[in-house]
Amino acid sequence: MSDPAAARSVAAVVLAAGMGTRMKSAHPKVLHPVLGRPMVNHVVAGAEALGARRTVVVVGPDMAELVAAVAPHPTVEQTDRLGTAHAVAQARAALADFSGTVLVLYGDTPLITLATLERLLTAHAEAGAGVSVLGFRAARPGAYGRLVTGPEGLEAIVEAKEATPEQLAIDLCNSGVMAVDGAALWGWLDRVDNANAKGEYYLTDIVALARADGRRCVAVEGEEDEFLGVNSRVELAVAERLAQDRMRRAAMEAGATLIDPTSVHFSWDTRLGRDVVVGPFTVFGPGVTVGDGVEIKGFCHFEKCAIAPAATVGPYARLRPGADIGEGAHIGNFVEVKKAVVEPGAKVNHLTYIGDARVGAKANVGAGTITCNYDGFGKYHTDIGAGAFIGSNSALVAPVKIGDGAIVAAGSVVTRTVPADALVVGRGEESVREGWAARFRAAKQRAKAAKDGKGKK
Ligand code: UD1
Ligand code: CA
Repeated sequence: MSDPAAARSVAAVVLAAGMGTRMKSAHPKVLHPVLGRPMVNHVVAGAEALGARRTVVVVGPDMAELVAAVAPHPTVEQTDRLGTAHAVAQARAALADFSGTVLVLYGDTPLITLATLERLLTAHAEAGAGVSVLGFRAARPGAYGRLVTGPEGLEAIVEAKEATPEQLAIDLCNSGVMAVDGAALWGWLDRVDNANAKGEYYLTDIVALARADGRRCVAVEGEEDEFLGVNSRVELAVAERLAQDRMRRAAMEAGATLIDPTSVHFSWDTRLGRDVVVGPFTVFGPGVTVGDGVEIKGFCHFEKCAIAPAATVGPYARLRPGADIGEGAHIGNFVEVKKAVVEPGAKVNHLTYIGDARVGAKANVGAGTITCNYDGFGKYHTDIGAGAFIGSNSALVAPVKIGDGAIVAAGSVVTRTVPADALVVGRGEESVREGWAARFRAAKQRAKAAKDGKGKK
C-alpha cells in the first residue's frame, strides 16, 4: 500500500500569536493542556502525523515558553496582530523554498482529527484546488465566517460582520483550517487588504482572490466539535471533556472495560492493553502503559509508569514516575510506588511506600512497610530480593539490601545488609510479665476507691 503522507508535499503554519487574555493566565493560551498535553502540541503533532515537511508556528511577542514547547519546530513572531492573513504571511520567509500545499492550523483548536485533515488534503489534491477550507454545520453560526458555495464549489468566505442577511442565514461555517496552493499563497496574501469591519487582514479573503484568478476552491465538511476553539477556562473544560470522551471510547473499542467511563481520565498517550478492566475514578497522567489483562480497581492515580500484563492494582493505589509493575504483581490499597521495579508475582498489598527500590519476584511486602529513601539530602536505593518476606510495619532504611528469600520480622527497622535466607529482627526485645496487668488494675482500683471514700465525708 502506498503511503499518502509520503507522496504529498505539505507544510503547516500554526497560528498561535493570540494572547488569550480571557484565560486570565501568565502563560500563552495555547500552552494550556488538554489530555495532559499543551493544546499547541496536539496541533503540531497532527501536522507531523500528516507527514508535513515543515511546521512553522506563528507566536506573539514574549512567548519564549511557547517557542520552547514547540521546538525543534521553527517559530516566527507576529509582533502586531493585524489579522489572520497577516499572521500567515509571517511564515513566508520560513517557507520561501516551499511550493507544495500549505496547511493553516490553529494552536487553540486541538480537537481536529487526523481523518478530517486527511479528507481536506485529499479533496484539495483531487480538485487541484487553490484553496480548500474545512467547514462545519453549526446550530448557532453566530460570529463564525460563512462559507459561500455555488455550482463550482466554494466561492468566498464572508465574515459575520460583513455578511448580508442572506449570507448570515448560511449554516456552513468557516473553521479557519485551510489547505492552500503554496505556489500562489504569498501572492494572494499580498493582495489582501484591511478595508473591512475589523480593520484586519482576513485570511478568509484569499478564497475570493483565488476564484478571481480562475482557481477552484473547495469546502470540506467536518463535525462542529472538532473545531472548538478555546478562548477561556470554561471552553478549555469543554475541550477536555470532548477529548476525554474520545479517549474513553477508543479505549473501550480497543478491548478495555471501563466500568464507569466518565469517571476515568486519560492522557493523550495512555496505552491500555486488551482485557484491561478499569474501575471507577481512576486518573491516568501522562506516560502510562498498561498490559493485557490488568485489573485496575478504582480510585487509582498513575503517572509515567508501566503495568505489565495480569497485574492487579488498587483500589486507591498511586503509581508515580518510574513505577514499573511486573507481570502478575499485586499492588493493593493505599500503596505508593515511585521509581521502583516490582518484579513479576511480587505482592505489595497494603499501606506501603516503595520508592527508589527493587522488589524481587514473588517477594511479599507486608502492610505498612516503608522504604526510607530520603535523608533530607539524597535519595538511596532499597533492594529486596526474590521471594523475600517483609513483615508488616517495617522501615527499610536505604541504602539497604535484603537478600533473596530473607525474612524481615514485623516492626523491624533494617539498616544493614540482610543475607539471603536470613532472618532479621530489628526491634526492641519483647518482655512479657505474667499477671502484671491484673496487679496494675487492682492497685489503681484500690487507690480510686480510697479517694472516692474521702470525698463523700
Ligand atoms: C476566524 C475566521 C472566521 C472563522 C473563525 C473560526 C478570519 C478573518 N476569520 O475568525 O471566518 O469562522 O476564525 O474560529 O480568519 N491569530 C493570530 N494573529 C492574528 C489574528 C489571529 O495569530 O493577527 C490567531 C488567533 O490567535 C486565533 C486565530 O488566529 O487562534 C483566529 O483568530 P481570531 O481573531 O480569533 O479570528 P476569528 O475572528 O475568530
Ligand atoms: Ca476565534
